[in-house]
Amino acid sequence: MQLDTSRPIYASFGGIIAIGNLKGGVGKSTLAVGLAGAMARTGKSVALVDGDPQATSRRWLVKSNLPIHVETLDLDSLSSLESWLGRAERLVRAHGTVVVDLPATIGPAMASAFLLARLILVPVSLSAVDIDGTNRVLRYIRTARSERGGIGPEVMIVPNKLPRSVGIERPVLDVLHGFGEPVVGGLSLYPEHGRAFAAGCWIGDLVPGSRAHNEVMDLEAAVADAMRRTVQAPRIEAAKQERRDRERAAVVDAAKPPVRTPRLPWWQRIFAS
Ligand SMILES: Nc1ncnc2c1ncn2[C@@H]1O[C@H](COP(=O)(O)OP(=O)(O)OP(=O)(O)O)[C@@H](O)[C@H]1O
Ligand SMILES: [Mg+2]
Repeated sequence: MQLDTSRPIYASFGGIIAIGNLKGGVGKSTLAVGLAGAMARTGKSVALVDGDPQATSRRWLVKSNLPIHVETLDLDSLSSLESWLGRAERLVRAHGTVVVDLPATIGPAMASAFLLARLILVPVSLSAVDIDGTNRVLRYIRTARSERGGIGPEVMIVPNKLPRSVGIERPVLDVLHGFGEPVVGGLSLYPEHGRAFAAGCWIGDLVPGSRAHNEVMDLEAAVADAMRRTVQAPRIEAAKQERRDRERAAVVDAAKPPVRTPRLPWWQRIFAS
């Protein structure tokens, strides 16, 4: 199956913010619901797509009164990929921003999110296994970048479950910066996040004005800033020109005998790896 990269969603990378890491339990759903809730409470239109079979975000939001459009993403096979791409396009058109909570597995949900997202948040909670999962997910993101002609996705490393008293210590910061992507303030370890999930409540509604709530608002502000900075119309134009040049070169090449086998699209390479 060939993806149509001339679709408007691919050209603009819409307002899709994916939240992913190949390590489970690092706080993807906590970030997804926290961020979507912060956007909704500051008057932004937002949809949340729950790509996790455990449906944590959807179950979380079912009881809340947040004005967030929630959908599940049942993408367990490549055959449903095209219909999801169409759905993503409609969601972006209808809601502007779409937050996607990804499962901790390589599969069509993650691959399509990396293809579409303008920004990817990678929560990291700094155990040795986390670092391995984070390095793996960043490798896939970089493959996606090169396939997208270097146009996004932008990445933000979000440290999570940080010890409250000491802040981020130097060696920890070194590890975070070692990932080679921008690092934001992140979230400290507050049991209120777990309580908010149990109560089906957004953190800012459960404990308004708390440190846990303020950290989520700071994260939303950092994300909004990154989204503003990643508007890349001139780069899109450059990429389109590059594609036209490539197509022209392909027509010329077609007249010559083939010299090597065609490269698989990046998302197929991800599945093959
Ligand atoms: N900053 C935090 N402070 C305290 N607890 C947290 C924090 N972030 C996440 N948790 C808790 O850690 C657990 C895992 O969080 P969460 O479900 O968000 O992770 P996940 O990455 O989505 O997991 P999965 O890979 O299973 O989808 C939950 O019990 C959650 O309440
Ligand atoms: Mg989750």
